[in-house]
Amino acid sequence: MIITFGTQKGGTGKTTLAIAFANYIAMSSERNVNVFDFDFQKSFYHKWKEDELLEIPKLYDVEIIDEENKQPFSDFEHLIEMKESEDVNVFDLAGTLDAKYSDLLIYSDFIVIPFEYSNVSAKSTLVFINFLGLLESQAERIFIRSKYDKGYKYQNQEGMDSEISKYGLLLKSPVFKRNCLQTIDTRKLTYEQKYAVKNSFLELTEYINKCLEITL
Ligand SMILES: Nc1ncnc2c1ncn2[C@@H]1O[C@H](COP(=O)(O)OP(=O)(O)O)[C@@H](O)[C@H]1O
Ligand SMILES: [Mg+2]
Repeated sequence: MIITFGTQKGGTGKTTLAIAFANYIAMSSERNVNVFDFDFQKSFYHKWKEDELLEIPKLYDVEIIDEENKQPFSDFEHLIEMKESEDVNVFDLAGTLDAKYSDLLIYSDFIVIPFEYSNVSAKSTLVFINFLGLLESQAERIFIRSKYDKGYKYQNQEGMDSEISKYGLLLKSPVFKRNCLQTIDTRKLTYEQKYAVKNSFLELTEYINKCLEITL
């Protein structure tokens, strides 16, 4: 299967959530996890490389998708193979819309879209949703409230929630703003980090299991 973390805005927590999710699945499931860093900044890949210094075994490999290659999936069969594979193939994208993402966004099984309620983020999320619509992507859209501040009353929350719920699943549990997530690495989840993402990921994996009729 292919699970892609993407949206049209940088800094919303895509890479943090992609790392947390890859770690979480690698630690809790029998399945192989493969990660593909499709962001020109390669933050996931760099972190994974840096973590080679840690004395903890790696949980998965991370591959860079070649930026030079305008059509990384012109080898279409490879993409379909990944989709049909039992492995959990996780993609982390940049916060820019780009035609080179089209095939991946069309053929992902799930697109996980972290968002915040700031006006800028709300607008970008809607642009991204629209982009997926134009691509006629059949992927299930899953929205996660990212860096959520429990003590704050977001003025546009109600309107935004009802709008995005038309396009996919909005996870009930937010991922709260937590300092522990700022020091996440690719080899473990601390107790605190696991606690920060657990409820959202339980909902997410339950939904994946239901849609694909599998057990992660
Ligand atoms: N839930 C969170 N709580 C606190 N900080 C977060 C959280 N999620 C992400 N961050 C921080 O926000 C910044 C941007 O996150 P990142 O995952 O790199 O976003 P993106 O990949 O969408 O650009 C990073 O400094 C990261 O540590
Ligand atoms: Mg990123």
